[in-house]
Amino acid sequence: MSAPPAAGRSNLDAILSQARADRERLDSGAVGFVSLTALGVAAVVGAGIFVTTGVAASQYAGPAVVISFILAGIAAAATSLCYAEMAAMIPAAGSTYSYAFASFGTLLAWVIGWDLLLEYLFGASTVAVGWSGYFVSLLDSIGITVPHALTTAPFGKDPGIVNLPAVLIVLSMCGLLAFGMRESAKANNGLVALKLGVLVAFILIGAWFIKDANWKPFVPLNEGGFGDYGWSGVLRAAGVVFFAYIGFDAVSTAAAEARNPKKTIPLGLLATVAISTALYVAIATVMTGMVSYKALDVADPLSAAIHAAGPSLAWFDSIVSLSAVVGLAATIMVVFYGQTRILMRMASDGLLPDALGKVSGTRQTPVVATTVCALGGALIAGFVPIAALTNLVSIGTLFAFVIVSSAVVALRRNRPELERPFRVPALPLVAGVAIVFSVALIVMLPVATWIRLFVWLAIGLTIFFAWGRANSRVRMAALPD
Ligand code: ALA
Repeated sequence: MSAPPAAGRSNLDAILSQARADRERLDSGAVGFVSLTALGVAAVVGAGIFVTTGVAASQYAGPAVVISFILAGIAAAATSLCYAEMAAMIPAAGSTYSYAFASFGTLLAWVIGWDLLLEYLFGASTVAVGWSGYFVSLLDSIGITVPHALTTAPFGKDPGIVNLPAVLIVLSMCGLLAFGMRESAKANNGLVALKLGVLVAFILIGAWFIKDANWKPFVPLNEGGFGDYGWSGVLRAAGVVFFAYIGFDAVSTAAAEARNPKKTIPLGLLATVAISTALYVAIATVMTGMVSYKALDVADPLSAAIHAAGPSLAWFDSIVSLSAVVGLAATIMVVFYGQTRILMRMASDGLLPDALGKVSGTRQTPVVATTVCALGGALIAGFVPIAALTNLVSIGTLFAFVIVSSAVVALRRNRPELERPFRVPALPLVAGVAIVFSVALIVMLPVATWIRLFVWLAIGLTIFFAWGRANSRVRMAALPD
């Protein structure tokens, strides 16, 4: 058996040649800058703002959740700059997985690919559960009641049989993805326009209903334990709301299908993070001004704020719920999209079974990877309680952020001659900020989450040494130089 190419030059060159091959078999040029940014905004703006903000404000930070959003936004912004440099230099659909392959070799690439399952597959499934909550309450408001047993996973508190709406939305969104990239991107553009329109309307209308008293005190007094309000609560809430930023990196998984990816991918990444951060800070400010943070411990915090404004704003409630249903559907679709492209790349590199790398000749989409995502996602969304998933998704993503930020610095040192259409300014400072903030946010998450991550990675390493390593050696050795 041939030896694997050494990490460094040959890995990177192999990745670049595969990226070129991907452009031939996928629908290259299907998405331009606007659609790419819409993909990013679709992936990012989801359950984090529609669901999680209320928990973070009511349990940990009070109105100072605004500061938590800024802190998590700094981690996202610094990391997005690192992603932009990597994606422009290595426009490969595998995103972080491919960057790790190029920078650190097969083992770390596998670890990160396995870790990305947490971000994408588990992330999309978590959002599907959030979607189901909004959908069921929307049906309820028009007099259709879905039995509890069919809207709740069988494990956890107050168990049911299956979360059927969550299963159905997963299958529908994956169906659209399998149908075609152009169609998916077009549908996504419309969904994002509606979602953004309603959220901007919430900010503009809600601003008229702000009561200063709700912001006093802005940082509620600490109640004794770490994270029980006060500044430690602001930090704990930053770890929680970080979930809201997850997904901007999905833009980089569109590298093989983007028009002029070396330019549009970095711009799409940066535009996504800028738009989302501005939106989050504005919404958190208005929301905590409209209602006391104590009343935000609900699954639909935007509705709680609207109710507090009184009957004159009641008409807006169903519009916001409808936009949550529509907006979360887009999030599910794009996060699954990222997963399908990463699985496709890992399979093409020999780290997963070949079938996952197959692209349909007619639809130009990775149909097998998409089907596997649909089935895996449906199982998770239908049967696993959401509380067990959210923090695991965040820690998996933060781990990927640390790898990408380190890879930028490593490649600047090892391959200074490479063409870099986008360069992170003030390196290594910016990468350092990304790493320090990401590690700090990991530390803010409960210890049980770290343990779950270690267990997950241990399972992944076992699979790698039992199967993936040997297959990848054969595949990589067979690639042309
Ligand atoms: N950031 C995405 C969301 O908030 C995953 O739903």
